[in-house]
Amino acid sequence: MPATPPAQVRYSAVAMALHWLIALAVLLLLGSGMTMTRMAPGLLSFDLYQWHKALGITVLALTLLRIIWRLTHRPPPLPDSMPRLERLAAHLGHAGLYALLLVLPLTGWAMVSASPLNIPTTWFNLFLIPHLPTPETLEARKALESGLEELHGIGGWLMLALVGVHVAAALRHALILRDGIFSRMVPARAPTLRQLAWAILPVLAIAAAFAFRGPALEQADRTAALTDAAPASAADSWIIDPARSRLGFRGTQMGAPFEGEFRRFTAEIVFDPDRPDSGHVLAVVDTGSAHTGDSQKDTALPQADWFDVGAFPEARFEAGSFRRTGPDSYEAIGSLTIRGMQRPVALPFTLADEGDATRATGRVQLIRTEFGVGQGQFATGDWVALEADVTVDLVARRAR
Ligand code: HEM
Repeated sequence: MPATPPAQVRYSAVAMALHWLIALAVLLLLGSGMTMTRMAPGLLSFDLYQWHKALGITVLALTLLRIIWRLTHRPPPLPDSMPRLERLAAHLGHAGLYALLLVLPLTGWAMVSASPLNIPTTWFNLFLIPHLPTPETLEARKALESGLEELHGIGGWLMLALVGVHVAAALRHALILRDGIFSRMVPARAPTLRQLAWAILPVLAIAAAFAFRGPALEQADRTAALTDAAPASAADSWIIDPARSRLGFRGTQMGAPFEGEFRRFTAEIVFDPDRPDSGHVLAVVDTGSAHTGDSQKDTALPQADWFDVGAFPEARFEAGSFRRTGPDSYEAIGSLTIRGMQRPVALPFTLADEGDATRATGRVQLIRTEFGVGQGQFATGDWVALEADVTVDLVARRAR
């Protein structure tokens, strides 16, 4: 069997180009997907998410092209010498790859569309990719998002496995059997410098577009760095003045009220009072910074019975939208996670103009045991009341 098949048993140039482009993109998507979901949120993870989404959508478009090409151009037949079982395995493997090449981008796209964070997807910062239709209610969107996230994750592992088998089979044909099957998918001649330059040009153009950041995307980044993606473009970013802001808590011990505050927290807020539903917020609180001024309480709070700071150094409040409840009052609708336990929370607050800034004050009552705060003898309200208030007094100004 010849190692270099004649032209009529080779794939066409278009089929080859699509095959290798998709192969490269899928490897980059598997790598970026596995990395970005395991790294700490930050600017780098934000860029990776953006890049992953844009490349994933590109793969969807290339796969559709590939399917159309394949339906209209018959691939070269497999050699008669190939055992039936191997043929079947090859067809099944290819069908599985095609299925995953559709399922992965579609679940990814639907997942980011369903996310209550309402975060747009751009194609390498060049244009906006619209969201797919999603359910109306926040709960339904969250449930859909987490279901799709799981499917997308499982799909990623299946793809990794199938790509592994596919590469192993290709290498077997190329290095052990030397039956020309592998060579059907590579060009007969090495590409000229000119052809290579043409191939690299679009990649450079995309890289340049990605490096260029318009003002809307700049702003999107700041918030998205923490929320894993970019916010609705028309919403406004707010910068908190830490010196004038306070995140407090109130509780009752043996009938006596006490107060404290979290001395370290960050909050990324995107909020336009005229379009409250398009905003979102992510506040990350250092649980080890809880301070009441009472040495007994301050010693107890970081311990395993209370915030268990060693295991859960952060608490998070994430809201996917705001709702207007009065002329200057709103509600941030989202979830609070303390000690790894996430519960839906709506935080009511009012806005007041402070001249150079805006003050947001709000209060929400929690049942601390819903978050596992107060274990053992403190799990009942006998010593410390189960109701605890979180008070928010933030002074912020618009980022632009
Ligand atoms: C062939 C195309 C794609 C492949 C091979 C792929 C692969 C992956 C992989 C391996 C992960 C990590 C899963 C995990 O370990 O938890 C991931 C995560 C993710 N992908 Fe994709 N992906 C593709 C397309 C897309 C598209 C089109 C979008 C959105 C427009 C997207 C959005 C996401 C998001 C948001 C996550 C993070 C999910 C999470 O937070 O757990 N992906 N992807």
